[in-house]
Amino acid sequence: MKVIHTVKHLKEAISLIKKQNKSVGFVPTMGALHEGHISLAERAKAENEVMAVSIFVNPMQFNNADDLKKYPVTTESDLAMLETAGCDFVFLPTADEIYTANEAPLSFDLGNLDKIMEGKFRPGHFQGVITVVNKFFSWIKPQKAYFGEKDFQQLAIIRMMSKKLHPDIQIIGCPTLRESNGLAMSSRNRRLAESERNDAGIIYSSLIQLNSLKNNHDIADAKSLVIQRIEEVHPFKVEYMDIVNADTLDSLSDWSESTQMRACIAVWCNEVRLIDNIAV
Ligand code: PAJ
Repeated sequence: MKVIHTVKHLKEAISLIKKQNKSVGFVPTMGALHEGHISLAERAKAENEVMAVSIFVNPMQFNNADDLKKYPVTTESDLAMLETAGCDFVFLPTADEIYTANEAPLSFDLGNLDKIMEGKFRPGHFQGVITVVNKFFSWIKPQKAYFGEKDFQQLAIIRMMSKKLHPDIQIIGCPTLRESNGLAMSSRNRRLAESERNDAGIIYSSLIQLNSLKNNHDIADAKSLVIQRIEEVHPFKVEYMDIVNADTLDSLSDWSESTQMRACIAVWCNEVRLIDNIAV
């Protein structure tokens, strides 16, 4: 496994791979890798001749300085996990390699997609995400790129950006891996105390109740019941919860038989912000 730190070396490595006509599967990450990330990497390995992963804690997508400062960095174990997964190369740049001083985010109209849910509570976040992913796509030019449904809104936004700017790259959405109590795996889970991590199973167990609540409650009541159930557990506080059309992410005010529905949620556990979503 090759570890590449500069854009220059990245371009050289890619040019060699392209000369050999090998297909590239790419998995962008911010490190602090867990089995969820590795499931994406394994899929990329199975479906392509070359598996490439980036590890970069992208400052442009953090709207909260404290969250950036506390973002876990575990490079040594990340590299060991990727080596075991059969990764061919890792791009591990510094921020100076990616951005010029005071660089502005990519100007790309995301319509309503970055105004709602995560976009509403994390202004500028998604512009930061597409800025870095657009750069990675331009340099690496993968055939396929892998993203988790765990970040459902991010996946929709990447699809939109990619369709316009990188139509040849196939975006593959991958299912969410969970801890045994149902908590969606996340790098931020490392910041939870053990008891909080155990209790955080309440998020998923409350969300999946929607599948029965929908039979005898309207959407507004069902949402209130889920929020109430989670907030009964100290110290969890729901920032938003919405049930949306899974394609457009438009909020639904009534249950629908004909559209795919997705319930999306953000929950604070003290200083740690957790997100999750399920198909309803
Ligand atoms: P990060 O949070 O490190 O996630 C990298 C990829 O792993 C994302 O596509 C995310 O959806 C996926 N992932 C995270 N937890 C998962 C889980 N439990 N199961 C399956 N997949 C999971 O998302 C980002 O980084 C950044 O925004 C990035 C796209 C790298 C741009 O900076």
